[in-house]
Amino acid sequence: MTNAADFLPSELGLEGLREAVEGCRGCELWACASRAVPGEGPPDAQVMLVGEQPGNEEDLTGRPFVGPAGRLLDRALAEVGLDRSEVYLTNVVKHFRSEPRGKRRIHKKPGDEHIEACRPWLEAEIAMVRPAVLVCLGATAAKALLGPEFRVSRERGAFVPSPLAPHVIATVHPSSVLRAPDEGRRRDAYARFVRDLGHVADRVRGLSELG
Ligand code: URA
Ligand code: SF4
Repeated sequence: MTNAADFLPSELGLEGLREAVEGCRGCELWACASRAVPGEGPPDAQVMLVGEQPGNEEDLTGRPFVGPAGRLLDRALAEVGLDRSEVYLTNVVKHFRSEPRGKRRIHKKPGDEHIEACRPWLEAEIAMVRPAVLVCLGATAAKALLGPEFRVSRERGAFVPSPLAPHVIATVHPSSVLRAPDEGRRRDAYARFVRDLGHVADRVRGLSELG
């Protein structure tokens, strides 16, 4: 079966990866997307956040988390004292999966086959950045990285043992906050999201104090 491994450059490096992912044909998702959206951030970032897949604005700009969910994420990160520019942001799947709906393209969840096909890119990013803290944003990232049994609703906001990084934690996806059905619940969902990210910020600060 084809997957992204067939397109991975032998000479690794984040820049090489960014270029190579654009040419990936590891699954069929490239054909309907405008471009690939590689991860973005400092190569030595202490924190890596992993989302699901690019959305419409990410697909058009080629940058992760620049649409509505990304703006909410930026604001939540800033509230806990983390700047977007100091974290590495990426997604489980690098091409936007969508369905046409009139003139718009509606987000469609990636299938297990896309997640598996795309996994080599994410694994390469984790291996190169080697973040101290790895954050799964939402069920797709959590299940892809922590296993299909992982339940974000039950296990969010707590560090879990994982061979992927010294400190691994999951929380909800920022788009779930935007989807809360009314203003009150949106406010609560946002507060919980910020609280979870606060654990990430505390952990990072703890690490730098240890030196
Ligand atoms: N949602 C994601 O999971 N990733 C993005 O980059 C944007 C929205
Ligand atoms: Fe390759 Fe991933 Fe895009 Fe599929 S979604 S073509 S595996 S980069």
